Amino acid sequence: MERLPGFRDFYPEPLPASGVWSINARQHIFAGWRRVATRYGFTEYDGPPLEPLELYTLKSGNEIVGQLYNFTDKGGREIALRPELTPTLARMVAAHHRQYKKPIKWFALPQLFRYERQQKGRLREHFQFNADIVGETDPAADAELIALLIDVLREFGLTARDFVVRLSSRRAWEEFFRRRCSDAARAYEFYQAVDKLERESPEKTNETLRQLGFTIDEVRDFISAGRPTPELEFIVSDLAARGLAEFVRIDYGIVRGLAYYTGPVFEAFDLQGEFRAIAGGGRYDSLVKLISGGKVDLPALGFGMGDVVLTQLLERQGLLPKFTASLDLFCIAEDEASRGDTLRTVQLCRDAGLSVEYALSPMKPDKQFKRALELGAGHVAWVKRSPDGTKAVRLRNLATRTEVVVREDEIAIMLKAARAEDRSCPQPGNKITLT
Ligand code: HAM
Repeated sequence: MERLPGFRDFYPEPLPASGVWSINARQHIFAGWRRVATRYGFTEYDGPPLEPLELYTLKSGNEIVGQLYNFTDKGGREIALRPELTPTLARMVAAHHRQYKKPIKWFALPQLFRYERQQKGRLREHFQFNADIVGETDPAADAELIALLIDVLREFGLTARDFVVRLSSRRAWEEFFRRRCSDAARAYEFYQAVDKLERESPEKTNETLRQLGFTIDEVRDFISAGRPTPELEFIVSDLAARGLAEFVRIDYGIVRGLAYYTGPVFEAFDLQGEFRAIAGGGRYDSLVKLISGGKVDLPALGFGMGDVVLTQLLERQGLLPKFTASLDLFCIAEDEASRGDTLRTVQLCRDAGLSVEYALSPMKPDKQFKRALELGAGHVAWVKRSPDGTKAVRLRNLATRTEVVVREDEIAIMLKAARAEDRSCPQPGNKITLT
């Protein structure tokens, strides 16, 4: 039985084949996302993976609505698997915003589902780091979010030679649109045509733009003139004050495909131009009001960064650490008579917080030793009882090949001390130890 196209299996390292997704790389990315978001004062939240279909048809825009996984449930409700988290966030904030001081700074790592056309960097499910600020109109919040985006990518070792954040303004595009077309209802059609400018054939874009009263050359001229709005100037100087100016550039080629954006918008791209966007977001000041049926009106802004392009980019740049499996201890039972003593030692060491393995079924000691090596154990222990009935453990450090005889209650103290020493002198090559 095959898995569905566009969905992934995540295997533990070492990976069984090339091209297979690694759960350890995923955990590494999640941990980096969480670390930097926390550093910026964001707190984690989550919503349900299934939502009423209407939540997305309200304002997400045709593209994402066309990609929905939706169905009617047994109670006759129209349901969709979440393709993005922003409408959920708007709903959650609107429901309880009075309980939170503004601005609200929240992040989440949801798995999202979109019935996408198969293409590089785009699958039918992905994990997406979302960071959003609600209740702040000052463009300092936009700069704070972009700084967070940049620092997340820097956290994984990417530099200004690897990626750039292209910053634009929905408001500037809106003014450009209004100068020529008075039908505000068609503005989203126009943004979509601009959003696809780099991906669609010029003939097709020209035709769409012509129907709206524009030519592709006018649009291109507006992009190359790229006159920043005061808001964008503020954001750039805020980022410059943090020493992050080299990571951002004004680029009106960005307009964002989603319908709800209202102000500054941005997307991050790899500088070699090999991948689709690494991340994208912007200000969406009317969404909370729309989703709450006009009851709550709060400005908001945020971005999403998927795990797919990020993993591929880190792989290409050699920035994914080597994930070496490791175990603190493997306990060897010399024979079946010593199984009870061995199990007690295993339990004692696990209770003390060590990762410990042993052979589940009877096995010759040399086979058990081989298994310890395969599992990357740091130490091996033979539990022995002396003729007077006292229990002692022969403990071998597999790296230094030194041996000591200890009491079983001393093992955890010794191995934890060894672990702490390991951590204080990190290995070259950015090695990550899996426990
Ligand atoms: P989005 O541009 O649709 O924005 O997605 C954000 C990021 O998620 C993309 O730049 C990409 O890294 C990743 N992504 C999107 N679709 C896929 C896919 N099919 N496969 C793999 N990765 C994908 C949003 O979703 C907005 N809700 C973000 C946001 C949050 N805006 C404000 N707050």
